[in-house]
Amino acid sequence: MKVGDVDLSNPVVFEAGVPYAYFALLRKEAPVTWQPSIYGEGFGFWNITRFADIAEVEKNVEAFSSKTNVSPMPTPESTLSSTVDRSIILSDPPRHSFLRRSITGGFTPRAIAKLEERIKQCAVEAIDSVIEKGECDLHDVAAYTPIEVVADILGVPAHDRQRLYDWANAMFGTTDPELSDPQKNMMGAMQMFSYARRLAKLRRANPGEDVFSLIALAEEDGEQLDDIDLGATFIVLATAGNETTRTQFLQGVLTLIEHPQAMATLREDLSLLPNAIEEMLRWTTPALGFARKATRDIEVDVRATLETDDGATIFVSYQGRSDYTKAGAAPIITAPLFETSDPRYLWLNKVQAIARGRAEGMSKLVYDIYEVQ
Ligand code: HEM
Repeated sequence: MKVGDVDLSNPVVFEAGVPYAYFALLRKEAPVTWQPSIYGEGFGFWNITRFADIAEVEKNVEAFSSKTNVSPMPTPESTLSSTVDRSIILSDPPRHSFLRRSITGGFTPRAIAKLEERIKQCAVEAIDSVIEKGECDLHDVAAYTPIEVVADILGVPAHDRQRLYDWANAMFGTTDPELSDPQKNMMGAMQMFSYARRLAKLRRANPGEDVFSLIALAEEDGEQLDDIDLGATFIVLATAGNETTRTQFLQGVLTLIEHPQAMATLREDLSLLPNAIEEMLRWTTPALGFARKATRDIEVDVRATLETDDGATIFVSYQGRSDYTKAGAAPIITAPLFETSDPRYLWLNKVQAIARGRAEGMSKLVYDIYEVQ
């Protein structure tokens, strides 16, 4: 395989599975590459694959703006105008800082502790609903908890949750014919927008403790968010926490089924679970990438300067797993947590994890740690 062999702009490439080997090759040989797009000129993007470069791109909000289309596929102008710079995920400071401030109240340690109870309750309900049968489609179990919890966060009443779930699927599953198509996608977005508008009206009149009440009441320079801002923020929160967590759960369980030894180790010692969850998150990578728009020409890697006269999109990819496990080796999920309150040493957890996974490859360890941090 050589650089240029895989067309990362083509969603079909990902149908057969994430091309991990190709990303590993890019990281090694060409960490910053220009990817022309199957959708024609204007849709190509710079593909950035190394951890250090990605961290740099994400940190430098002045040079790399979030105000852009996050999908590598063409997106209707109407969608862009109602999301770019309107939703938290597609905005830059100071607007981003304002939107972020307005929701932090919903994610304080107290609020999270309350949510934790609710998550446990949902998980028990999900298992109870299938346990009698002795078999299930795991997707049904995985789908239940995230949408319930997200709906709690947003203060969506129980009788509206199925609709919320259907709209979220219609919006996120455009490339999956079982879930959606471009028309359903548009309808889903419109319905969610108008739902958010109605909910905001109710919450302004009668606020709750939920995050959407905070957003509906937030003020910037004495003004509350308008309908489009509210809709865009509602949609991000309703979809961001739903599809990602469901995918994470399903891919994590699949990985454990494929690696029974890792599953057995975990079952024997549940104290390994916190680190295992972190590891499964890294291993499964539910969000495969994100986009930024470069505001000027800038050197990302010593080997490449991104020329952005044409306002080209930057697409960063998060796949890291093929760097430090051999093909077929167990995913590294069973290392105990390294106990320390000193943040300087927290990375040691990763070392233990890697060391376990590469019993006979220790000489490469130092390089690998550098890649993972
Ligand atoms: C496995 C689960 C999840 C994954 C993998 C994930 C992934 C991500 C990633 C990669 C970003 C950064 C995007 C960027 O740099 O432009 C992000 C941002 C965000 N996520 Fe998640 N997410 C998850 C769960 C959630 C949940 C449960 C919620 C809330 C209910 C949530 C809400 C958000 C929000 C609001 C942002 C924007 C933050 C900001 O711009 O300040 N996510 N997520």
